[in-house]
Amino acid sequence: MSRRILITGGAGFIGSHVVRRMVNHHPKDFIFNLDALTYAGNLMSLTDIQHLTNYQFIKADITDEARVLEIFRENDITHVVHLAAESHVDRSIHDPLSFIKTNVLGTANLLNAAKRFWNGNWENKKFYHISTDEVFGALGEEGMFSEQTPYNPHSPYSASKASSDHLVRAYFDTYGLPIVISNCSNNYGSHQFPEKLIPLVINNILQKKNIPIYGAGTNVRDWLWVEDHARAIELILDKGKLGETYCIGGNNEWKNIDLVHLICKITDELLGNPESNSVSLIQHVTDRLGHDHRYAIDASKLENELSWKPTQNFSQALKDTIQWYLSNQEWVNAVTTGEYQRFYQENYNN
Ligand code: NAD
Ligand code: DAU
Repeated sequence: MSRRILITGGAGFIGSHVVRRMVNHHPKDFIFNLDALTYAGNLMSLTDIQHLTNYQFIKADITDEARVLEIFRENDITHVVHLAAESHVDRSIHDPLSFIKTNVLGTANLLNAAKRFWNGNWENKKFYHISTDEVFGALGEEGMFSEQTPYNPHSPYSASKASSDHLVRAYFDTYGLPIVISNCSNNYGSHQFPEKLIPLVINNILQKKNIPIYGAGTNVRDWLWVEDHARAIELILDKGKLGETYCIGGNNEWKNIDLVHLICKITDELLGNPESNSVSLIQHVTDRLGHDHRYAIDASKLENELSWKPTQNFSQALKDTIQWYLSNQEWVNAVTTGEYQRFYQENYNN
């Protein structure tokens, strides 16, 4: 049976990879991309698929209750893949309320619209909520997050995502809404907004600007190639069990400082710069407030139940990613306009 899939946040980093994959791999399904086109959303990321007949873009805000319900009704939505969110931890420290509005109220609106429109007819329906490993808090040197880890978020961003996860589960427990949730580690790849570590470092090397490392740079993140995340999302939408959570990770932990050195090395090689040229740009700056020490994901449930595994060779995929930013300066320049400059000043010059 064909699906009419509403993907929210499809003009953002991960969303654009998910939309492209779903439109190309599932020609019998119809993909609606709902996005408010905030500073983080850009339709330039989807020019290659925008002409396809099973794709439609809808500019809308998930916090608009009436409009969200109307979109379900007008388009006979059967499935939701919910990625739209305010996603940058540093912005959540400066402006927590916008995170609570979009991530909590926006998710509640979508849940409510699905409940009202599907009205107890759950057959061939699914509400898939995309979340983050940050809801679990921070790890010490040992251990990993899994589906059993209790929630312990620290930033306004992760607390807002945790709230949205709880709401999604509440709609399953209370109303039987057919939901599934996944919690993923840090993604990297093309089309990521250059406020996040990897594209920010590449961009600063190109601009010969300082590379800001928060604190000592010993915080650890588990990096997953965005296409591996998109493939996991495609699989969980298809086969994920209702009411369940799946943890997704790259099994690929890096200290920030080591990762930044690797990015400098690869970027210098690709640009033909002298060895270690960009390392001199590294500058240790004031630490992020409430900075989580380490994230690491045990993805064995997804591997065992749905046969998913990350496919990446990290150094090759990172090199391809860096090459993408070097070759797509038009995209980078388009997204690093006034709003980007304003945030950069506010975040780094205090
Ligand atoms: P992003 O910031 O690149 O994109 C977010 C998108 O949502 C943008 O296109 C934006 O325009 C849209 N959006 C924001 N507010 C909206 C609103 N009110 N109504 C409609 N659209 C709105 O984010 P991303 O990094 O692609 O993350 C996508 C999702 O995946 C988020 O839910 C995030 O919490 C989750 N996630 C991200 C990562 C990561 O490493 N980036 C890891 C795990 C989970
Ligand atoms: O773990 C999943 C999360 O990964 C997602 O839920 C978030 O949406 C996504 O933004 C990401 O959060 P992080 O805070 O881990 O990513 P970010 O790229 O902002 O930072 C990665 C690490 O690098 C973190 O330890 C902070 C550090 N950092 C970041 C920036 C932007 C710096 O040292 N300097 C910087 O300038």
